[in-house]
Amino acid sequence: MQQSGSERVYTFPVLDRSIRLAVLLSGSGTTLQRFLDLITAGQLCGEVCCVVSSRKDAYGLVRASQHGVPTLIAVRKEYPTMEEHSAAINDFLMPFQPDLILLAGFMVLYCPPQGMEMRVMNVHPALLPLFGGKGFYGHHVHEAVLNAGVKVSGATVHFVDTTYDTGPIILQKPVMVEEDDTPDTLAERVQAAERDIYPEAVRLFSQGRLRVEGHRVRITS
Ligand code: GAR
Repeated sequence: MQQSGSERVYTFPVLDRSIRLAVLLSGSGTTLQRFLDLITAGQLCGEVCCVVSSRKDAYGLVRASQHGVPTLIAVRKEYPTMEEHSAAINDFLMPFQPDLILLAGFMVLYCPPQGMEMRVMNVHPALLPLFGGKGFYGHHVHEAVLNAGVKVSGATVHFVDTTYDTGPIILQKPVMVEEDDTPDTLAERVQAAERDIYPEAVRLFSQGRLRVEGHRVRITS
């Protein structure tokens, strides 16, 4: 990390090995599955080194086990504070030495480990900064988009800071809202966009092509 004026600048080295990914989820784990499939198909040079779920019944845990990935269940209400919940997660995942922590439908506020600033990414099912923040997750986002009557939605991948959906944006992909869309049909097309841009953001990171300048992420060639 460098400091230029009052602006923090983060650059990342080119990884000359497979990228180690820790994945945090709360639900069905289709995002996790996307990464597992790309890695298996040789389309992403990486490894999912561990998975954390905030729910005991998350199907993402089954997907992780099917691939022999170590898992932790950390239910938020079993910890007095968000900081203690995050600390338990971080104590589990840091020994796996992840290069990146990926939030993949992780529905609780999370505090990244020290030294992992700008090494935690999230995917959000709208074009941030619109339709983000506390309470905006999954179908709630698509309902809000349709109720607002906007004509374009989409997907966003961003670095995670200490509040919901406010970290520097890495990639976005727009999706047109159709006249007859329901939250389900819109979600389907937005998730297809997520499946493109989330792995792409990870590739750019591992190629050392992301440069964070304050709140702006530049993609270098
Ligand atoms: C994803 O579509 C993602 O956009 C959303 O949760 C879904 C997870 O699905 N994330 C958020 O709403 C974050 N605010 P999955 O469990 O099948 O991967």
